[in-house]
Amino acid sequence: MQVQIFQNKEALHRAVAERIIAEVKQNPQSVLGLSTGSSPIDTYANLVRDHQTQGTDYSRVRTFNLDEYVGLAGSHPQSYRYFMNEHLFHHLNIPMENTYVPSGIGDLEKECEAYENEIKRQGGIDLQLLGIGTNGHIGFNEPGTPLDSRTHVTRLLQETITANARFFSTVEEVPTEAVTMGIQTIMEARQIVLLAYGSKKAATIRDAVRRPVTENVPASVLQHHPDVALYLDEEAAALL
Ligand code: GLP
Repeated sequence: MQVQIFQNKEALHRAVAERIIAEVKQNPQSVLGLSTGSSPIDTYANLVRDHQTQGTDYSRVRTFNLDEYVGLAGSHPQSYRYFMNEHLFHHLNIPMENTYVPSGIGDLEKECEAYENEIKRQGGIDLQLLGIGTNGHIGFNEPGTPLDSRTHVTRLLQETITANARFFSTVEEVPTEAVTMGIQTIMEARQIVLLAYGSKKAATIRDAVRRPVTENVPASVLQHHPDVALYLDEEAAALL
């Protein structure tokens, strides 16, 4: 695992964005794996600024998001599809049909299978961006998820529901299930970039990087990936 530590969040977001932009410039047909949560918001703002000022071209890029809440349609303001449209897709020249976010409604078993097939059909993910939950989850792969899992429906742990309640008016509105790429799906990406900042993530980052690989800390499996880079601020890296 390669670890890069930045003095502040601004420098961190700039560096992650530069990594993604370099990937897209080198391969204009890149397949990007994208994430949600608060962590990547400013990274996406950097991508949008670069597109507007430097004209980086996304017309042939394809994107696959990690996860979606079960029961929320893409028009719901708290859905991850809506989040991605608002923070990124609507501001780039990426065709909407090139942007894949799992559907949280309909026949979910079929959806999971179709999602996996589509990733394969598009040639696999070149660069996967990840955040990390305070309990070590990646995507919505909660502690205990088998390391060989693929896209599936998962029940969210109470700690995740509580942590994500800040995006909803009440905790009761937070969906209790999600569709998520599996850990194996994520591990098949050719490159992985995980970004984390703030002292709340420090113990999780330590457990993921310095402790043995365990299903109890899903992000720890990244130790087995040949090309993974962690972009951290000093607070998130404090316990390494
Ligand atoms: C959610 C997402 C994860 C994300 C995590 C961290 O649970 N499913 O993909 O990494 O939140 O969120 P934040 O970046 O807000 O700390």
